[in-house]
Amino acid sequence: MSDQATLCLNAELASDRDLTCRLLQAGELVALPTETVYGLAADAAQPEAVNKIFIAKNRPATHPLIVHIASVEKLSDWVSEIPPAAKQLAEAFWPGPLTMLFHKSPRVNQVVTGGLDTIAIRVPQHPVFLGILEKLNTGLAAPSANPHKQISPTTAQHVLKGLSGKIAAVLDGGPCSVGLESTILDLTTPVPRILRPGPITPAMIEAVLQTPIESPATHHEPVPGNMAEHYQPKTPAFMMTHDELKTYLAQSHQRIGLLFYSPDLHNDHTEKSLQLPKEKSAYAKQLYQALHDLDQNHIDEILIEAPPQSPEWQDVWDRLLKATSSKEGK
Ligand code: TXA
Ligand code: MG
Repeated sequence: MSDQATLCLNAELASDRDLTCRLLQAGELVALPTETVYGLAADAAQPEAVNKIFIAKNRPATHPLIVHIASVEKLSDWVSEIPPAAKQLAEAFWPGPLTMLFHKSPRVNQVVTGGLDTIAIRVPQHPVFLGILEKLNTGLAAPSANPHKQISPTTAQHVLKGLSGKIAAVLDGGPCSVGLESTILDLTTPVPRILRPGPITPAMIEAVLQTPIESPATHHEPVPGNMAEHYQPKTPAFMMTHDELKTYLAQSHQRIGLLFYSPDLHNDHTEKSLQLPKEKSAYAKQLYQALHDLDQNHIDEILIEAPPQSPEWQDVWDRLLKATSSKEGK
């Protein structure tokens, strides 16, 4: 695809939101804010438009997309059967960062689902995205608005850094409030199963369904969220415990970008260091911004303090394990 000038639109302006709708109706790509990360949206009912997503992101055609809808009432346009659990979970968590996997309706083009017979759906919480969905009266296919394998964007500036010239526009709605991608829950298996950990935890889902779900540490679906290497900064990144970091920082001569939350790791000798909050949701909200900031040319390696081991940090662990390599393997 030849490069095009990417418009930077302002979500606070009705005229820019209207232009966004017209571009999407015309089959163009627009990056939109959601509460999790920015999504690269196309009308899910226009296969040629959806196909442009794969080209702009350099994403393999077999990697399925999430379809975003305005409300649970629209589910039957996209899925062939709605299990009772979906209604309970939608009631509890939609709009919000929970994506559910269904058997797809035969009407949905396979370009959206990467050739699979299942379809991932969510109702996003961001008022701007919801307003656009309501106005367009369709579903919007939207993966995270980053080039394949790079860090997800939580601001319009991150989107432009990766996709400027490849998409029609980005609608700037400020930084995302959650900052990590949605939880993905498979409802096509006999027992619901987490495919990607996220802000809606297994315990929250089990509390609604009143039954245990599967939350495997790894699974074998051929999907990108499951690849060992994903969400990677360009600079080599490593995760270390607090004590390992103390020792390493004392002896390293590398130009280090440090991401930490324990105050005693503050270190004047590192090239750039960023301290994140110790509270989980505040940490998650700032994580991708921090990784984008540290991923700069003049830094040799990014070192990340390993987060706490409690269950609520599972989604952060998942993203950091995918963003980092093992120091021993070096
Ligand atoms: O928070 C989010 O989920 C963001 C915002 C924009 O909504 N979207 C997002 O999309 O993270 P993406 O494409 O970057 O990640 C979607 C994940 C991928 O790992 C994909 O393989 C999985 O969802 N997925 C989508 N459809 C699927 C399907 N039919 N079966 C299995 N996995 C599926
Ligand atoms: Mg992604």
